[in-house]
Amino acid sequence: MTTAWKPESWQQFEARHLPEYEDAAALARATDTLSAYPPLVFAGEARALKADLAEVAAGHAFLLQGGDCAESFAEFHPNNIRDTFRVLLQMAVVLTFAGKRPVVKVGRMAGQFAKPRSSPTETQGDVTLPSYLGDNINGIEFDPVSRRNDPERMVRAYSQAAATLNLLRAFAGGGYANLREVHQWTLDFMGRSPWADRFGDVADRIGEALDFMEACGVDPQTLPQLKGTNFYTSHEALLLPYEQAMTRRDSLTGEWYDTSAHMLWIGDRTRFDGSAHIEFARGIGNPLGVKCGPSLEPDTLLKLLDQLNPDREAGRITLIARFGHDKVEEGLPRLVRAVKAAGHPVVWSCDPMHGNVVKSDSGYKTRPFDRILREVTAFFSVHRAEGTHPGGIHVEMTGQDVTECVGGAIAITDDALGDRYHTHCDPRLNAAQSLELAFLIAEMINREMAERPRHAA
Ligand code: PEP
Ligand code: CO
Repeated sequence: MTTAWKPESWQQFEARHLPEYEDAAALARATDTLSAYPPLVFAGEARALKADLAEVAAGHAFLLQGGDCAESFAEFHPNNIRDTFRVLLQMAVVLTFAGKRPVVKVGRMAGQFAKPRSSPTETQGDVTLPSYLGDNINGIEFDPVSRRNDPERMVRAYSQAAATLNLLRAFAGGGYANLREVHQWTLDFMGRSPWADRFGDVADRIGEALDFMEACGVDPQTLPQLKGTNFYTSHEALLLPYEQAMTRRDSLTGEWYDTSAHMLWIGDRTRFDGSAHIEFARGIGNPLGVKCGPSLEPDTLLKLLDQLNPDREAGRITLIARFGHDKVEEGLPRLVRAVKAAGHPVVWSCDPMHGNVVKSDSGYKTRPFDRILREVTAFFSVHRAEGTHPGGIHVEMTGQDVTECVGGAIAITDDALGDRYHTHCDPRLNAAQSLELAFLIAEMINREMAERPRHAA
């Protein structure tokens, strides 16, 4: 790997999962347009997220990252954005209360369009077409015109990301994220759910804490921080022509930042040694995620860390483990040990989604809730055994009442999957399942805290 980095230096490296564009002039037009558009985020915000993640790496905070597997043009609606944001906030309140530590909130939102696919083609009956690659590349409809890669889609994705981010910023800062409101939504929700009995106690204690604070004069009127929250955005840095076009030099520091999102991550299929995606990521100043699946060897991971974070800056790297419920206990410890021994400061986060996809009897791609929970539980126990911080979770979820993952207390059955299966790619947790997961993780955190000696950090 050469040391001179430029936003386009990735083009000299092996790039997997990038679309071929037939019309080079149309591609240049689209990327020129994007290069002239305003950045979506400011470099200072990416640095603020990095500082927050450094707190997570040190064990003083928890990371909650979640949103769609793939955002789509069809599902672009203010209510969808609002509802996903709302459930993330509800989850964050439950996790903050359990851990007694701040929760850093990062959406898989406002830019999560491009998808790596297991096969470049899809066959239905006797017709074979290119696979759907995400709405910023081609269309999901199974016809040759939709499946053509169209660079103009990047410009539309930018507009959608800009409008989504605008609404998220308005919600986060404009009063919608008021702590009391967020908790009231959870109570309303619990009233309608079969797990009110199990989690009612935690919900009541959160309410009491808020009452106590209010009695002491600490309420959203006196403490404006309670009215708002910091909310960051992230997506997989997969579609490099788009990411390159969004990469700008920060006027304050002179460093390069990818201004398409606060945080970018590299997928499990594009983090191999010598990859174009790694080359791109190493030059941008944003906090980075790296997906870590069963095929990742400790040596390769250490080499990646040296390339992506040679200065060992805390908060720069989040390692997102996605092994599968039956592989995490075997695969994760050796990575955790290697990273710890090398002294790299990282956030360890658990993606319990991507290693737990199964095909249901009814033919849908699904994820059983109990496997998701089992992977998170195993992730926590590995970190307990290794003396490291289980720093966060990374989930595919939506605020909508979809039927995509089977199980949960309001059990989605195999037969019901077809009722509201709307995802453009992988199955997502619905609002109830997401909140249930947060309560179950809260129980795990409580157990951890009970086992820990009293004044330990
Ligand atoms: C994803 O996060 O949507 C994804 C494709 O994950 P992974 O790279 O871990 O397979
Ligand atoms: Co996915």
